[in-house]
Amino acid sequence: MQKLLIKGKKELFGTISISGSKNATLPILAASILSNNGVKLANVPMVKDIFTMLELLKFIGIKIRIKKKQKVIELKNNNKKINTLAPYKLVKTMRAGVLVLGALLTKYKKAKVSLPGGCAIGTRPVDLHLFALKKLGAKIKIKDGYIIAEAKKGLVGSKIKFPSISVGATENALLAAFGAKGKTVLLNCAVEPEISDLISFLKKLGGKIIISGRKITIIGKNFGTKKTYHKIIFDRIEAGTYLIAGALIGKKLVLNKIDTKIIKSEIDTLKKMGVNITNNKNSLSILKTKKLKKINITTKPYPGFPTDLQAQLMVLMTQAQGISKIKENIFENRYMHVPELRRMGAKIEIKNKTAYIFGASRLTGAEVMATDLRASVSLVLAGLIADNRTMVNRIYHLDRGYEFLEKKLQTCKAEIKRI
Ligand code: EPZ
Repeated sequence: MQKLLIKGKKELFGTISISGSKNATLPILAASILSNNGVKLANVPMVKDIFTMLELLKFIGIKIRIKKKQKVIELKNNNKKINTLAPYKLVKTMRAGVLVLGALLTKYKKAKVSLPGGCAIGTRPVDLHLFALKKLGAKIKIKDGYIIAEAKKGLVGSKIKFPSISVGATENALLAAFGAKGKTVLLNCAVEPEISDLISFLKKLGGKIIISGRKITIIGKNFGTKKTYHKIIFDRIEAGTYLIAGALIGKKLVLNKIDTKIIKSEIDTLKKMGVNITNNKNSLSILKTKKLKKINITTKPYPGFPTDLQAQLMVLMTQAQGISKIKENIFENRYMHVPELRRMGAKIEIKNKTAYIFGASRLTGAEVMATDLRASVSLVLAGLIADNRTMVNRIYHLDRGYEFLEKKLQTCKAEIKRI
């Protein structure tokens, strides 16, 4: 099993180009089922979760061409030999597989999709996805671990108010509403930049979609017949991760290929902590930070501070003077990195949903275990500032979502290698 070995305390100096967003690409790949013509996606991150989704689409019957070097994926749905099934073996390794449900159901009037199981960060049910599909007229039952959905006469537009905000449920509902008859109004939606990217892709497919605050209106459409080209937006979580790396140990780190407006809440949070950031429109520079100040944050749906950066920010808080607080409001079990960070010398206590981080602590290298994607990268960040060597085990979690992580860090003078 591969591991990452990091020798800490090397200042970062250089430029990192941020990759395309994994969490934008996944629903857009599912949306390619809705097209009756070719789809070409550019700026696709070549990470494991994307390949798992492609395997699922191939199983469904979509023709796929991958141009790894160009970061391009071409897809074509000929509507021949379509399998409206997402099997357990593919959905269990990547929950986003459930996103094919809305697209298959609206286009082919039926779908059988494995229920994703629990996950290291929480139980993560899909009741909100099913709630929306039922409102659009689907008949749904759960049998043998599968969601079996049917809409014999096709889905019909409706007004749906989500009882709570969910990224995946908003995406599944959007995909389903695209092929539903008439108008659908979705209320209390997630409005993450990845959802805006999905909407801009669906518009290119011919959908009429209006977004206003947390309200999204979709006028049902026959399936996309135009050839569609789309460039995936940048990965704001990857950008935030390197922003924190720069704040921890940057001499001068430049991040490019980003849109700084989209990560305003992250930049503002770090500036409040005393991080020295200068931002242009499409790039950021992080200069050496002298003294970090404590801060309190709560994770929230966009535009709030993202749960996907909570573990990374916690590492930065270990270096700030005083007691910082994080309230994790999205997932019930997203503190799996805490015991590992404690083993490296961090002083962190958890009471209910809140983590108290007592800083500043001197971290020391250790052999640690990755538990999920963002927890893993937080251990890499801790390794960059720790004394001696840190060995991060189970880095397959990292490979699910970070493109060329160690190469990008090596370019900026970090001592990190895969063994
Ligand atoms: C997306 O997951 C992301 N995944 C996650 O990124 C991210 O952490 C999360 O949104 C929140 O921002 C992808 O985009 C592929 P949710 P998703 O539905 O859609 C509860 C990463 O590290 N909920 O917004 O699954 C749920 O349990 C990953 O890249 C229900 O109760 O998240 C959670 O508490 C991890 N019922 C909350 O809502 C439902 O039917 C928000 O989850 C759906 C969700």
